[in-house]
Amino acid sequence: MSTLITNIGELVTNALPEAGEPPGMPAGGRAGGAAGGPAPAFAARADAALILDGGRVAWTGPAAGAPAADELVDAAGRAVLPGFVDSHAHLVFAGERGAEFAARMAGQPYAAGGIRSTVAATRAAADEQLRLNLARLSAELLAQGTTTFECKSGYGLTVADEARSVALAAEFTAEVTYLGAHVVAPEFDGDPAGYVDLVCGPMLDACAPHARWVDVFCERGAFGADEARAVLTAGQAAGLLPRVHANQLGPGPGIQVAVAAGAASADHCTYADDADVAALAASPTVATLLPGVEFSTRQPYPDARRLLAAGVTVAIATDCNPGSCFTSSMPLCIALAVREMRMTTQEAVWAATAGGARALRRTDVGHLSPGARADVLMLAAPSHAYLAYRPGVPQVAAVWRQGVRVV
Ligand code: NIG
Ligand code: FE
Repeated sequence: MSTLITNIGELVTNALPEAGEPPGMPAGGRAGGAAGGPAPAFAARADAALILDGGRVAWTGPAAGAPAADELVDAAGRAVLPGFVDSHAHLVFAGERGAEFAARMAGQPYAAGGIRSTVAATRAAADEQLRLNLARLSAELLAQGTTTFECKSGYGLTVADEARSVALAAEFTAEVTYLGAHVVAPEFDGDPAGYVDLVCGPMLDACAPHARWVDVFCERGAFGADEARAVLTAGQAAGLLPRVHANQLGPGPGIQVAVAAGAASADHCTYADDADVAALAASPTVATLLPGVEFSTRQPYPDARRLLAAGVTVAIATDCNPGSCFTSSMPLCIALAVREMRMTTQEAVWAATAGGARALRRTDVGHLSPGARADVLMLAAPSHAYLAYRPGVPQVAAVWRQGVRVV
């Protein structure tokens, strides 16, 4: 069955310019497109329509010229966007750390060690409890407009607990990440090399069949450069694609390790130096910024403007996890990116859709060109800017996933 969504006030397509298309578009036009080249950038059209058919976008264009379809949806001037692509989330866990958050707001610093309390709760949980938590969080994501999300393991840290974590994640998403190298498991206190051997050996063997990605937390208090390289190399040899938690809590080698490994993304990038920015700019590695983390840990925000000015591809994701940032809300992260990191509303929305798709090496999501997956978000607002203009206000009017209306 085909669906025509018409009377769209602003249709954000993120489509590349077609040959001969004038650079300025009625509803805000393109942001950041270099003269002459089809630079990937926010792109939108006013007074538009969209046809979904067979789970794909079949047509976009002016509302006045829309072909007929089986079903008609009147957007009544609302904005329509690609569903959000959340390329960084840790959703397989049990327990919560509300008291840790409260203590932080009372002056305690955030430290990677808090991960271990979630590890204990996760190990103690039955599969069904973890599954219910995953179901609840993935429903939250969808209700807030996220139609594709990545999900990491990393709160098990034994072969069996990591294996069940990736297997459970695979029940909810195709973008599963093996993060056995989140922190050194408590059993390996004093023997980090022994833990890295486990992560690169039996744990990887048990997890690789369920995962697409391998990740490592490269940070003081977690894993150093040599350890991170070993984890990524072993993961790649097992057929996984690399991504890295890099430069979150302080300066360090994470971004350089990510770029050298050909990682799809270096995530956090809160403490990037000139060489880090230059390395990202000269590589296809996306810088995934997670402003909810800085909001929830009271750290300084990453310098998005510096990354953008250098030509780095920037994505925004939630990092939803019980420790450093317990939000599933991409609209909140967009508002933070705009207000706190000085991204334009267009840059932030691109980063939360097409940017996330690039961070996951996906070409079928994050845009609404013909042929794209029919993952569509309709806002209860006339433009994408309202995501930052009305922070904290629920503005999801409808969501379609693969052409099926789910919200
Ligand atoms: O991305 N940095 C490492 N992992 C998470 C935090 C996990 C936790 O505190 O439980 C993050 O911020
Ligand atoms: Fe994370």
